[in-house]
Amino acid sequence: MEEVHADVIVVGAGVIGLGIAWEAARSGRRVTVVDPAPGSGASFAAAGMLAAVSEYHYQEEQLLEFMVHSAVLWPAFAASAGPGCGYLSTPTLCLAGDAADRQAFADLRSVQQAHGLDVRPLTLREARTREPLLAPALAGAFEIEADHQVDPRRLVAALLARLGEESVVRARAARLAWDGRRVAGVVLEDGRELRAAETVVANGLGARDLAGLPVSLPLRPVYGDVLRLRVPARVRPLVTATVRGLVRGRPVYIVPREDGTVVIGATQREDGSDAVSAGGVYELLRDAQALVPAVAELELYETTARARPGTPDNAPLLGRVPAAAGEPHDGAGCVPGLIVATGFFRHGVLLTPAAASVCLGLLEGVADPRWQGFRPDRFTRTTRPLAERSAAARSAAPQGGIR
Ligand code: GLY
Repeated sequence: MEEVHADVIVVGAGVIGLGIAWEAARSGRRVTVVDPAPGSGASFAAAGMLAAVSEYHYQEEQLLEFMVHSAVLWPAFAASAGPGCGYLSTPTLCLAGDAADRQAFADLRSVQQAHGLDVRPLTLREARTREPLLAPALAGAFEIEADHQVDPRRLVAALLARLGEESVVRARAARLAWDGRRVAGVVLEDGRELRAAETVVANGLGARDLAGLPVSLPLRPVYGDVLRLRVPARVRPLVTATVRGLVRGRPVYIVPREDGTVVIGATQREDGSDAVSAGGVYELLRDAQALVPAVAELELYETTARARPGTPDNAPLLGRVPAAAGEPHDGAGCVPGLIVATGFFRHGVLLTPAAASVCLGLLEGVADPRWQGFRPDRFTRTTRPLAERSAAARSAAPQGGIR
């Protein structure tokens, strides 16, 4: 059976997996990324808002700290990925459809400000001076200079190019390979075994299907419908800033790209359907049009639905996994050779540089105490003993046994 040897195997080639792989490769490690279709999951749908401030939700303080940390890392990360990744430092404009929406933004702003985040109220005249195509009947506007954007599809392409085709194995990882006491890589669906000193599980919702994990990951699919539209020359630019609106309490965003297209998103559904929702498309267009009436003149050329990997507290599952009592560990009490990086929910693109930096730290033996709260076993606490996870992996094994 063919074997590949690397320093690090990253399972999953969405933005998170590729970001981790790129950071590890830049540190001089030999990296192999495993994914049957790189960039085709949640990263394919994502609008790429780097929205640490505007995506703040009440009581998600630790996540906010991580998001702000990652936003700070973004310019250097984008520079390392190359100019083709579509990073733009355009600001974000929050628009209220009616008085209740304005109040919701104002209430949130008071908490954002308490956290030192800058959210500046604009008069409607100021907002319209910046964006002349805004609707005449808006109720309020706020500017967030710190929330930028990147094009996730271009980012995926840029990172794949940086890593090189030889670093990518286009296949599905069926299970973790164990050498008894440590994770030694992965076994692919076709039975090939890839071996490495460290394996990073970064395949989003796919982590649920990876056999042999020592911890159960409470991931659930949160579907989103996302639209891509071309802006005809007569209404360009439709908007120059990212627009985030509340329209009768419903959130909608419009993200302008350099190529004269816009991304409008996104619904949030837990109905189990991976098909694009007609009702979702209708609501997105209706609400986006309430903010910018010329949306009706755009050419709708793509509708996409993908699932975000949700967790019970909306924060990622990130870190090493504690070893079961009495089992071998890496000296810090964790399963040797394994890092988990999934469950990034709505924030995968924003959190890519921070996740990559956390994983690089773990590869180098340094666990940043600030992010201990994201440990992947925080909902389960008990790590599955070796015998149990081996049996689970054996029953899922496509060929051969557990090593
Ligand atoms: N980050 C935006 C979304 O998930 O819709």
